[in-house]
Amino acid sequence: MKHTHLIAAALATALTLPAALAAPVGVMLKDPYCGCCTAWAEHMQKNGLELTSRTEQDMAAIKDARRIPAQLRSCHTAEIGGYLFEGHVPADLVKKVLKDKPKIAGLAVAGMPMGSPGMEGPSKQAYAVTAFDRQGKTSVYANR
Ligand code: CU
Ligand code: CU
Repeated sequence: MKHTHLIAAALATALTLPAALAAPVGVMLKDPYCGCCTAWAEHMQKNGLELTSRTEQDMAAIKDARRIPAQLRSCHTAEIGGYLFEGHVPADLVKKVLKDKPKIAGLAVAGMPMGSPGMEGPSKQAYAVTAFDRQGKTSVYANR
């Protein structure tokens, strides 16, 4: 009886292991007191982009060091495949960048637009997804 139990338990562990080991594709840096970042990470995960999360006390310093243009800043900053993703960038656009490999530093959704991934609410606000480079040059990548 006890033996069968152990086998069943071992089997259950083996079966759940692959999901638990889904390799993270990048890291999300976030303020310890912000919750919408986690909601965005869940949106990413649902779309097959598993992220590890790291809390940082000084997010402004993190953004300064990565030269994220001041006018494009949001809450969290993610690093995926050598690109930066600032704020609530939709997962399909993250995937597009990772696939197309454009000559940009990353994408940003400035501020916290209502209705963006991780910012779901009663209303939806139109917002731009902006590409930026290391020199601070920006261009509209998509409108949502
Ligand atoms: Cu946010
Ligand atoms: Cu947040």
